[in-house]
Formats: sequence, C-alpha cells, structure tokens
Amino acid sequence: MRNENQFEQIKIELKKHLKPHRFNHTLGVVKMASKLAKQYGIDVQQARLAALLHDCAKNFSNQEMLQVAKDAKIALDPIMLLEPQLLHGPVGAVVAKKTYHVHDPEVLSAIACHTTGKCDMSLLDKIIYLSDFIEPGRDYPGVERLRHDCFEKDINSACKEAFDNTISYVISIGGLLHPKTIEARNYIIIEDKYQFEKDC
Ligand SMILES: [Fe+2]
Ligand SMILES: [Fe+2]
Repeated sequence: MRNENQFEQIKIELKKHLKPHRFNHTLGVVKMASKLAKQYGIDVQQARLAALLHDCAKNFSNQEMLQVAKDAKIALDPIMLLEPQLLHGPVGAVVAKKTYHVHDPEVLSAIACHTTGKCDMSLLDKIIYLSDFIEPGRDYPGVERLRHDCFEKDINSACKEAFDNTISYVISIGGLLHPKTIEARNYIIIEDKYQFEKDC
C-alpha cells in the first residue's frame, strides 16, 4: 500500500498548489492514464503517479520556470526561452523529484516530455501524452475521434493523430512549433513504416 499512500499524499499537496480547474484536469488525466495503462498492459500505479504529477509545475510563473530550469541545468533552446510555459514538463520532472520525492526515471521521463513529446517515447511517455489530450474535461475539435482511436487503434496511430492536431493548431494560430514535437512525430512514422532505429 506504500504506493497508494504516496499517491494520496501527493494528491493532497497538489490540491493546495494547483488552481481548481488544473487540479480537476489532473484527476481526469489520472483516470485516463489508468484506463490506457490497463489497455496497453503497463504498470497502472506508475501511470497514475506520472499523470498525477504531470502538471505539478503548471502554476509557476515564467520567471520561476526559467530559474528552476537554469538551476537544474535543463538545456534551454530559443523556443523555450520565448515560450517558458513549455518548460512546465521538464521543470515538473525536477519538482516531482525534489518536492514530491519521486525517483522512478520512467515516471520522470513521462512528466518531462508531456509538453512537447520527444524522440523514441516509451509506452508510458505516450500514455501520459495522450491522456493529457483526451481526459474527460477536454473539449476541442477532434477530441472524440482521438479518444476513440486511443482505445480502438494502436498507440502510435493515436500519438501521430495527437501530434497532427497539435501541429495544425499551432500553425493555425501562427505559433512556434517546438522541434521536439516534429522529431517525436517523425520518429513514430519512421518506427512504424521503416522499422529502423534513429538517433535523435
Ligand atoms: Fe501540461
Ligand atoms: Fe495537463
């Protein structure tokens, strides 16, 4: 029961720090990550913990985000400097470790890459990335289809669809695309079509 106690303790702390809508979103991501973990046969407790903490740094100001990132020696690229909120993934992993005492590298990876995706994502990384998009509180064009495809298609097709949605949306608002999102999408296509290993 140690895992469940840890989960409940973190949940109590997060409720104090996150805005109510963010906390409710987090609980939605936990629910979805749990379902997807069962569907794809991975550790449900690990998925629930990563989901619980995925937005633990979302309440940080841009200045705080950049400071924690610099202190933790997170590589800051030009896009992250211009859009510091993209850092809430990598910074969240630092906070999960330092504040919430989570040391599982797979959980920390899933938290770190949930904002942009990355090359060669693990099954847990993909599940957290997708759960963030399809939790019950999400409502945007294409969400029903993505929800359906997460369970009825394979995980890579669902991830590609989520990357496509994100990339199309960012283009539609004239925003900055992060290269890691492009790399993540390319990797999945290469993995599926060409079955070959690529260094990122
Ligand atoms: Fe997030
Ligand atoms: Fe989120």
